[in-house]
Amino acid sequence: MARYLTGIQSSGIPHLGNILGAIEPAIRFSQNPENDCIFFIADYHSLTTIKSAEQRIHNVRSVAATWIAFGFDYQKNILFRQSDVKEVLELTWILSCFTPFPMLANAHSFKDKSDKLSDVNAGLFSYPVLMAADILLYDTEFVPVGKDQIQHIEIARDIASAFNNAYKQDVLTLPTPALQQDSMLIPGTDGGKMSKSYGNYIDIYLDDKALRKVVMSILTDSTPLEEPKKTEGDTTFKLYSLLATEAETAHLASLYAGGNFGYGHAKQMLYEKILDHFQDARARYSDLMSKPEEIDAILAIGADKARTIATNVLNRVTPLTGF
Ligand code: ADP
Ligand code: TRP
Repeated sequence: MARYLTGIQSSGIPHLGNILGAIEPAIRFSQNPENDCIFFIADYHSLTTIKSAEQRIHNVRSVAATWIAFGFDYQKNILFRQSDVKEVLELTWILSCFTPFPMLANAHSFKDKSDKLSDVNAGLFSYPVLMAADILLYDTEFVPVGKDQIQHIEIARDIASAFNNAYKQDVLTLPTPALQQDSMLIPGTDGGKMSKSYGNYIDIYLDDKALRKVVMSILTDSTPLEEPKKTEGDTTFKLYSLLATEAETAHLASLYAGGNFGYGHAKQMLYEKILDHFQDARARYSDLMSKPEEIDAILAIGADKARTIATNVLNRVTPLTGF
């Protein structure tokens, strides 16, 4: 059995980019019976940016409901909320005392964010240590992540090595990033990387009318209706191709090439494809979100399973450090 662990921050409602770029690929890992998967909602991490309790609680449930709606088998695996296993905070402190200050100061996610945010708090700075604790607390071997998170996994490895070297024992398991094969960037409605920070995301859980409006807002070039259109670099085509079969994609490509086919038609096809492709997940999600106590109960079971593993690992760490 290989242990995979990954987390998603509760900093918003998962959008199409999160789902295609992170959630679905991680669920595919979990469907391999050889893999033992621990997926969690990083609500402590989200405090670096979100201060509202109601918003965090809503986002935690929304991320959890998405994992479940997209088919994560939380009975065979573990799905939990980071803050339900407080042991992570103890390990964070211990690890922070094995983390060289310049390693955090040079982390590019910190440098990128601290350039843009008005609130540059110390939580944002020590974010990678909490993430290292998330990973090391569960003897994680592989961490499915996108490219932007690789440096954080390297930091976790470096911290684990520093700790192991200090006590001359293999106490902590060194994690390896499992780069998501199709970790291509999903474009947003403006053609740039889809992100909640850029306001260009597609929320697949919107009601039909609002969802159609967002799809219709996708930016296109100004090729006239009667002229043939290029598929390359066209966001509507790209998103359609990610959801459709090869034959359907080839058909749309031929409509683009043939002329007399407007972007409005293509967007209508994309909208219908989204409804069709996500019909079951949307229904399961809205059903779960109407029963928050059911989501909370699933997370509580996950927390118990996670805590058992965490306690074992922490029990290897604390005697060595004299606590
Ligand atoms: P956002 O950019 O909307 O704030 P996050 O940084 O919270 O998204 O990302 C959560 C997960 O979704 C990460 O694993 C990230 O790599 C993935 N992800 C986010 N946006 C995209 C995208 N446009 N394409 C592919 N994957 C994405
Ligand atoms: N930093 C990750 C992100 O923003 C979320 C995260 C927190 C995580 N802890 C983790 C991912 C541990 C993998 C493993 O996407």
